Amino acid sequence: MDIRLEGISHSYGDTEVLRDISLEVTSDQIVCLVGPSGCGKSTLLRFLGGLERPTKGRVLQVGSPPEGCLNPLTYVFQDFALLPWRTVRGNVSLVLEDHGIRGDRAEAIIADVLSRTRLSDFAEALPRQLSGGMKQRVAIARALAVNPAVMLLDEPLSALDAQTRELLMDDLVSLWTRAPFTAVYVTHNLAEAVRLGHKIAVLSRRPGQIREVVSIDMPLSERSHGNPELEAVQSHLWNLMREEAKAADEELLDV
Ligand SMILES: Nc1ncnc2c1ncn2[C@@H]1O[C@H](COP(=O)(O)OP(=O)(O)OP(=O)(O)O)[C@@H](O)[C@H]1O
Ligand SMILES: [Mg+2]
Repeated sequence: MDIRLEGISHSYGDTEVLRDISLEVTSDQIVCLVGPSGCGKSTLLRFLGGLERPTKGRVLQVGSPPEGCLNPLTYVFQDFALLPWRTVRGNVSLVLEDHGIRGDRAEAIIADVLSRTRLSDFAEALPRQLSGGMKQRVAIARALAVNPAVMLLDEPLSALDAQTRELLMDDLVSLWTRAPFTAVYVTHNLAEAVRLGHKIAVLSRRPGQIREVVSIDMPLSERSHGNPELEAVQSHLWNLMREEAKAADEELLDV
Protein backbone atom coordinates (compact mmCIF):
# COMPACT_ATOMS: atom_id res chain seq x y z
CA MET A 1 0.00 0.00 0.00
CA ASP A 2 1.28 3.46 -0.89
CA ILE A 3 0.26 6.65 0.87
CA ARG A 4 -0.09 9.91 -0.96
CA LEU A 5 -0.17 13.25 0.84
CA GLU A 6 -1.84 15.89 -1.31
CA GLY A 7 -1.59 19.57 -0.50
CA ILE A 8 -1.67 19.23 3.28
CA SER A 9 -1.92 22.52 5.16
CA HIS A 10 -2.77 22.89 8.81
CA SER A 11 -3.26 25.56 11.46
CA TYR A 12 -3.91 25.26 15.17
CA GLY A 13 -5.92 28.43 15.83
CA ASP A 14 -3.78 31.30 14.54
CA THR A 15 -0.65 29.19 14.33
CA GLU A 16 0.05 27.95 10.84
CA VAL A 17 1.92 24.67 11.31
CA LEU A 18 2.14 23.05 7.85
CA ARG A 19 1.85 24.54 4.38
CA ASP A 20 1.03 22.66 1.19
CA ILE A 21 2.81 19.37 1.81
CA SER A 22 2.64 16.80 -0.99
CA LEU A 23 4.61 13.59 -0.64
CA GLU A 24 4.43 10.01 -1.85
CA VAL A 25 5.19 7.14 0.52
CA THR A 26 5.98 4.18 -1.71
CA SER A 27 5.44 0.60 -0.67
CA ASP A 28 8.53 -1.16 0.74
CA GLN A 29 10.42 2.07 1.14
CA ILE A 30 11.42 4.12 4.18
CA VAL A 31 10.67 7.83 3.89
CA CYS A 32 12.46 10.02 6.43
CA LEU A 33 11.04 13.37 7.50
CA VAL A 34 13.64 15.79 8.82
CA GLY A 35 13.22 19.38 9.90
CA PRO A 36 13.76 21.71 12.83
CA SER A 37 11.90 21.49 16.14
CA GLY A 38 8.29 22.52 15.94
CA CYS A 39 8.05 22.43 12.14
CA GLY A 40 5.14 20.01 12.22
CA LYS A 41 6.75 16.56 11.76
CA SER A 42 4.74 14.82 14.49
CA THR A 43 1.60 16.60 13.33
CA LEU A 44 2.16 15.27 9.81
CA LEU A 45 2.63 11.77 11.21
CA ARG A 46 -0.69 12.07 13.06
CA PHE A 47 -2.39 12.96 9.77
CA LEU A 48 -0.74 9.97 8.10
CA GLY A 49 -2.07 7.70 10.84
CA GLY A 50 -5.53 9.22 10.66
CA LEU A 51 -5.42 10.40 14.28
CA GLU A 52 -6.20 13.96 13.20
CA ARG A 53 -7.39 15.67 10.05
CA PRO A 54 -5.58 18.52 8.35
CA THR A 55 -7.28 21.86 7.76
CA LYS A 56 -6.67 21.42 4.03
CA GLY A 57 -5.52 18.65 1.72
CA ARG A 58 -5.88 14.91 1.95
CA VAL A 59 -4.15 11.66 2.79
CA LEU A 60 -4.84 8.90 0.27
CA GLN A 61 -4.21 5.22 0.79
CA VAL A 62 -3.46 3.63 -2.59
CA GLY A 63 -3.74 -0.15 -2.92
CA SER A 64 -4.56 -2.71 -0.27
CA PRO A 65 -2.79 -3.51 2.99
CA PRO A 66 -0.59 -6.65 3.01
CA GLU A 67 -2.14 -10.03 3.73
CA GLY A 68 -2.59 -10.69 7.43
CA CYS A 69 -2.49 -6.97 8.21
CA LEU A 70 -4.35 -6.32 11.48
CA ASN A 71 -3.68 -2.61 11.68
CA PRO A 72 -2.66 -0.74 8.52
CA LEU A 73 -1.00 2.23 10.24
CA THR A 74 1.01 1.52 13.36
CA TYR A 75 3.11 3.89 15.47
CA VAL A 76 6.46 3.48 17.19
CA PHE A 77 7.19 6.32 19.65
CA GLN A 78 10.33 7.74 21.20
CA ASP A 79 9.26 6.72 24.72
CA PHE A 80 8.52 3.07 23.78
CA ALA A 81 5.02 3.14 25.39
CA LEU A 82 5.30 -0.36 26.88
CA LEU A 83 3.06 -1.62 29.68
CA PRO A 84 5.46 -1.99 32.64
CA TRP A 85 3.54 -4.85 34.29
CA ARG A 86 3.51 -7.00 31.17
CA THR A 87 6.42 -9.12 30.00
CA VAL A 88 7.96 -8.71 26.56
CA ARG A 89 5.69 -11.48 25.30
CA GLY A 90 2.72 -9.88 27.11
CA ASN A 91 3.33 -6.50 25.50
CA VAL A 92 3.37 -8.07 22.05
CA SER A 93 0.43 -10.42 22.70
CA LEU A 94 -1.74 -7.51 23.87
CA VAL A 95 -2.05 -6.05 20.36
CA LEU A 96 -2.95 -9.49 19.05
CA GLU A 97 -5.57 -9.99 21.79
CA ASP A 98 -7.03 -6.63 20.75
CA HIS A 99 -7.67 -8.21 17.35
CA GLY A 100 -9.02 -11.46 18.81
CA ILE A 101 -5.91 -13.46 17.97
CA ARG A 102 -4.95 -16.01 20.61
CA GLY A 103 -3.57 -19.52 20.96
CA ASP A 104 -1.30 -21.09 18.34
CA ARG A 105 -1.73 -18.32 15.79
CA ALA A 106 -0.71 -15.70 18.36
CA GLU A 107 2.22 -17.85 19.54
CA ALA A 108 3.51 -18.20 15.96
CA ILE A 109 3.35 -14.45 15.35
CA ILE A 110 5.01 -13.67 18.70
CA ALA A 111 7.82 -16.18 18.06
CA ASP A 112 8.40 -14.69 14.60
CA VAL A 113 8.57 -11.02 15.65
CA LEU A 114 10.67 -11.73 18.76
CA SER A 115 13.12 -13.66 16.63
CA ARG A 116 13.26 -10.89 14.01
CA THR A 117 14.03 -8.34 16.74
CA ARG A 118 16.52 -10.68 18.53
CA LEU A 119 14.36 -10.85 21.65
CA SER A 120 13.50 -14.56 21.75
CA ASP A 121 15.58 -15.12 24.89
CA PHE A 122 13.89 -12.24 26.71
CA ALA A 123 10.25 -13.13 26.17
CA GLU A 124 9.54 -13.45 29.91
CA ALA A 125 11.43 -10.32 30.98
CA LEU A 126 9.66 -7.19 32.23
CA PRO A 127 10.37 -3.81 30.60
CA ARG A 128 12.23 -2.54 33.70
CA GLN A 129 14.75 -5.37 33.27
CA LEU A 130 15.58 -4.26 29.72
CA SER A 131 17.99 -1.66 28.35
CA GLY A 132 16.56 1.27 26.39
CA GLY A 133 17.56 -0.32 23.10
CA MET A 134 15.81 -3.57 24.00
CA LYS A 135 12.68 -1.69 25.05
CA GLN A 136 12.56 -0.03 21.66
CA ARG A 137 13.06 -3.42 20.00
CA VAL A 138 10.00 -4.63 21.92
CA ALA A 139 8.03 -1.66 20.60
CA ILE A 140 9.19 -2.52 17.07
CA ALA A 141 8.28 -6.19 17.57
CA ARG A 142 4.83 -5.11 18.76
CA ALA A 143 4.41 -2.93 15.67
CA LEU A 144 5.54 -5.76 13.36
CA ALA A 145 3.09 -8.19 15.02
CA VAL A 146 0.13 -6.45 13.38
CA ASN A 147 1.88 -6.61 9.99
CA PRO A 148 1.17 -2.95 9.25
CA ALA A 149 0.95 -1.52 5.75
CA VAL A 150 2.96 1.47 6.97
CA MET A 151 4.95 1.86 10.16
CA LEU A 152 5.01 5.42 11.52
CA LEU A 153 8.08 6.05 13.64
CA ASP A 154 8.37 9.32 15.58
CA GLU A 155 12.01 9.83 16.59
CA PRO A 156 12.28 6.20 17.70
CA LEU A 157 15.97 6.43 18.63
CA SER A 158 16.01 9.86 20.28
CA ALA A 159 15.83 8.59 23.84
CA LEU A 160 18.82 6.28 23.35
CA ASP A 161 22.55 6.84 23.73
CA ALA A 162 24.77 7.07 20.64
CA GLN A 163 26.04 3.47 20.66
CA THR A 164 22.57 2.04 21.17
CA ARG A 165 21.29 4.18 18.33
CA GLU A 166 23.95 2.70 16.05
CA LEU A 167 23.01 -0.84 17.05
CA LEU A 168 19.32 -0.19 16.51
CA MET A 169 19.98 1.31 13.09
CA ASP A 170 21.83 -1.92 12.21
CA ASP A 171 18.79 -3.86 13.49
CA LEU A 172 16.38 -1.79 11.40
CA VAL A 173 18.55 -2.26 8.31
CA SER A 174 18.68 -6.04 8.72
CA LEU A 175 14.96 -6.21 9.53
CA TRP A 176 14.15 -4.27 6.37
CA THR A 177 16.67 -6.22 4.26
CA ARG A 178 15.17 -9.58 5.30
CA ALA A 179 11.56 -8.45 4.87
CA PRO A 180 11.06 -4.97 3.38
CA PHE A 181 8.43 -2.85 5.07
CA THR A 182 6.98 0.59 4.40
CA ALA A 183 7.75 3.29 6.94
CA VAL A 184 7.67 7.00 7.59
CA TYR A 185 10.50 7.81 9.93
CA VAL A 186 10.70 11.19 11.69
CA THR A 187 14.10 12.21 12.96
CA HIS A 188 16.24 15.25 13.81
CA ASN A 189 19.30 13.18 13.12
CA LEU A 190 20.65 13.44 9.58
CA ALA A 191 22.97 10.45 10.04
CA GLU A 192 19.87 8.32 10.74
CA ALA A 193 18.13 9.75 7.71
CA VAL A 194 20.95 8.89 5.28
CA ARG A 195 21.37 5.45 6.83
CA LEU A 196 17.69 4.46 6.69
CA GLY A 197 15.93 6.64 4.14
CA HIS A 198 15.19 5.66 0.57
CA LYS A 199 13.74 9.13 0.36
CA ILE A 200 14.35 12.05 2.71
CA ALA A 201 11.93 14.97 2.85
CA VAL A 202 13.45 18.11 4.33
CA LEU A 203 10.94 20.47 5.95
CA SER A 204 11.47 24.15 6.58
CA ARG A 205 10.83 25.73 9.96
CA ARG A 206 7.22 26.37 10.92
CA PRO A 207 5.03 26.55 8.90
CA GLY A 208 6.66 23.38 7.63
CA GLN A 209 7.00 23.27 3.86
CA ILE A 210 8.95 20.77 1.83
CA ARG A 211 12.32 22.29 0.94
CA GLU A 212 13.50 19.25 -1.01
CA VAL A 213 12.99 15.52 -1.32
CA VAL A 214 16.30 13.69 -1.67
CA SER A 215 16.36 10.09 -2.93
CA ILE A 216 19.19 7.69 -2.15
CA ASP A 217 19.45 4.65 -4.41
CA MET A 218 22.16 2.81 -2.48
CA PRO A 219 20.79 -0.38 -0.85
CA LEU A 220 20.42 -0.01 2.93
CA SER A 221 22.71 -2.98 3.55
CA GLU A 222 25.58 -1.22 1.75
CA ARG A 223 25.34 2.04 3.67
CA SER A 224 28.41 1.84 5.84
CA HIS A 225 29.83 4.50 8.15
CA GLY A 226 32.02 7.06 6.46
CA ASN A 227 30.75 6.23 2.98
CA PRO A 228 31.68 9.36 0.97
CA GLU A 229 28.47 9.34 -1.09
CA LEU A 230 26.33 9.29 2.06
CA GLU A 231 28.47 11.94 3.73
CA ALA A 232 27.94 14.17 0.70
CA VAL A 233 24.15 13.71 0.97
CA GLN A 234 24.31 14.41 4.70
CA SER A 235 26.24 17.66 4.10
CA HIS A 236 23.71 18.67 1.48
CA LEU A 237 20.87 18.03 3.96
CA TRP A 238 22.64 20.01 6.65
CA ASN A 239 23.13 22.93 4.26
CA LEU A 240 19.39 22.91 3.63
CA MET A 241 18.61 22.65 7.34
CA ARG A 242 21.19 24.93 8.93
CA GLU A 243 19.42 28.26 8.41
CA GLU A 244 16.04 26.73 9.17
CA ALA A 245 17.27 25.17 12.40
CA LYS A 246 19.00 28.37 13.49
CA ALA A 247 15.92 30.49 12.86
CA ALA A 248 13.64 27.93 14.55
CA ASP A 249 15.95 27.83 17.56
CA GLU A 250 15.95 31.60 17.90
CA GLU A 251 12.18 31.70 17.50
CA LEU A 252 11.77 29.24 20.36
CA LEU A 253 14.14 31.27 22.55
CA ASP A 254 11.99 34.35 21.89
CA VAL A 255 8.85 32.82 23.37
N1 LIG B 1 -2.71 19.88 19.55
C1 LIG B 1 -2.07 21.04 19.32
N2 LIG B 1 -2.62 22.22 19.59
C2 LIG B 1 -1.99 23.38 19.35
N3 LIG B 1 -0.75 23.46 18.83
C3 LIG B 1 -0.12 22.31 18.57
C4 LIG B 1 -0.74 21.03 18.79
N4 LIG B 1 0.14 20.06 18.42
C5 LIG B 1 1.23 20.71 17.97
N5 LIG B 1 1.08 22.04 18.06
C6 LIG B 1 2.05 23.05 17.62
O1 LIG B 1 2.32 22.79 16.26
C7 LIG B 1 3.68 22.99 15.96
C8 LIG B 1 4.25 21.71 15.35
O2 LIG B 1 4.30 20.70 16.34
P1 LIG B 1 4.89 19.25 16.08
O3 LIG B 1 4.88 18.55 17.39
O4 LIG B 1 4.19 18.63 14.94
O5 LIG B 1 6.38 19.60 15.63
P2 LIG B 1 7.64 18.65 15.46
O6 LIG B 1 8.26 19.00 14.16
O7 LIG B 1 7.25 17.25 15.69
O8 LIG B 1 8.58 19.17 16.64
P3 LIG B 1 9.72 18.36 17.45
O9 LIG B 1 10.88 18.24 16.52
O10 LIG B 1 10.02 19.27 18.60
O11 LIG B 1 9.15 17.03 17.87
C9 LIG B 1 4.35 23.40 17.26
O12 LIG B 1 4.44 24.79 17.27
C10 LIG B 1 3.40 22.91 18.32
O13 LIG B 1 3.47 23.73 19.46
MG1 LIG C 1 7.78 15.81 17.08
